[in-house]
Amino acid sequence: MSKFYLTTPLYYVNDEPHIGHAYTTILADVLARYHRSSGYDVHFLTGTDEHGQKVQQAAEKRNVLPADHVDEYVKRFQKTWNKLNISNDDFIRTSENRHKNIVKDVLNTLYKNGEIYLAEYEGLYSVSEERFITEKEASDGNFKQIKKIKEKNYFFKMSKYQNQLIKHIKNNPEFILPKKRANEVLGFLKNPLADLCISRPKSRLSWGIEIPFDTEYVTYVWFDALLNYISAVGYGADQNKFETWWPANFHLIGKDILITHSIYWIAMLMAIDVKLPKTILAHGWWLTENEKMSKSVGNVIRPLDLVDKHGVDSLRYYLMRDMVLGQDASYSYDSFIKRYNSDLANDLGNLLNRVTILINKNFNALVPEYGEFSNQENDILEFIDSSSKTVCKLIHNLKIHEAIEIIMKGYRLLNKYLELKEPWKLVRKNKESKSSAATCLYVALNVFYKNSLFLYPIMPDKINKITEVLRQNLPVDIFNVNFIKPGTKIGIGNSLFPRIDTK
Ligand code: MSP
Repeated sequence: MSKFYLTTPLYYVNDEPHIGHAYTTILADVLARYHRSSGYDVHFLTGTDEHGQKVQQAAEKRNVLPADHVDEYVKRFQKTWNKLNISNDDFIRTSENRHKNIVKDVLNTLYKNGEIYLAEYEGLYSVSEERFITEKEASDGNFKQIKKIKEKNYFFKMSKYQNQLIKHIKNNPEFILPKKRANEVLGFLKNPLADLCISRPKSRLSWGIEIPFDTEYVTYVWFDALLNYISAVGYGADQNKFETWWPANFHLIGKDILITHSIYWIAMLMAIDVKLPKTILAHGWWLTENEKMSKSVGNVIRPLDLVDKHGVDSLRYYLMRDMVLGQDASYSYDSFIKRYNSDLANDLGNLLNRVTILINKNFNALVPEYGEFSNQENDILEFIDSSSKTVCKLIHNLKIHEAIEIIMKGYRLLNKYLELKEPWKLVRKNKESKSSAATCLYVALNVFYKNSLFLYPIMPDKINKITEVLRQNLPVDIFNVNFIKPGTKIGIGNSLFPRIDTK
């Protein structure tokens, strides 16, 4: 069986997850579920980044020890992912021994191999970003809380991997997606690459993994956190497991952490001679009123508020439908409601309601026997056949919003067909017209069923409910299912997506 290993970033446990974090995690979940539903053996990893300045500051602010703070705050992420129906196979916390041991091993190896050295360095330091920045970065104005710092630190010889990095990115067009992000990284690599400061003196930051060969220092949070992608799958501890999953197929990230993943992480892997991940996929930002949604700006939307009000699948659907993977998207409650009412309440929900009620009332709740198909019906059957291939291909090409558009087109086509055919009138006229209604409802129900299964990875709860109404088991392969046989008893699918009143 083909294997598929995908990861999300590890989120800082300094606050609670907002819609931006939820987006990355839901996107990973959707990809994981699509791959599971088409025959892959999937390993889906997420978790939390628990060391470093941001977390230490959050703990200080609350007047608690960092260790207690992270134990308490990690639950917010776990609870949210549970509520969002995230099907991760593992959840790694960087404060766990299975991770800390590997970070120490890697540091020891690199130090022994002369890849890490001690040096005094004077430079500009961004407190908010927790790293030394270049003069150019400082003048770009994207960094806050900049101060000049002079201190002795340990450095990883990242600069020596510059050419190897450039070569790898150029030779592997799938390595960084979308392409414009690869170009951004190549642009960054046009300037000389500096070595990476990987330690922080304990006098300045005490919450971190101690450097094993110098107890005066802790490890720089990024050097620590990036290693989770291999520590979680057994690197240095369980060779068998490691070989099963590594290299990762996808590192999903937001565009804000492109450089750390495409340069720091990759140079680290090159230095320890470990295979490189296949694809780093950077998505855009969710904005509120044109600004990046973030805790520091104070414009965050809590996913659980929406879930409590309108259900988990509506949020999952909205986030997948309204962001073109790779570009930024704007969140507004208004657009959420509009999307919900038009796509889910109207096109999908009403259709299920209508078809199942007609079958229940006029055919004893049994899927009707079909006769000869008209041209219209043949067109619809052809459409659903070809959309199973198109949707599958679009998902694998990461065009999720386009795949959803095709699925919605399927519902709209069915709605239009019912309006034209008017089976609610046909059932009442005569025997012949009733058999025409039977064929119509047989086609409508089955095409609805097939089309809805394509949405399972996006809306697992609701699609499960639909299969329950239609008395079907969820198929192993959602892209390859048989029609429901005539004579099968079905239920009524009402109020699956009740309309949200905007008044
Ligand atoms: N801890 C680091 C990542 C270490 S990975 C080894 C970090 N954490 S974070 O909590 O700040 O989360 C960053 C990620 O959250 C982004 O890369 C992105 O996936 C997601 N998002 C946070 N805000 C976002 C938006 N406004 N929009 C979309 N996603 C964003 O960086």
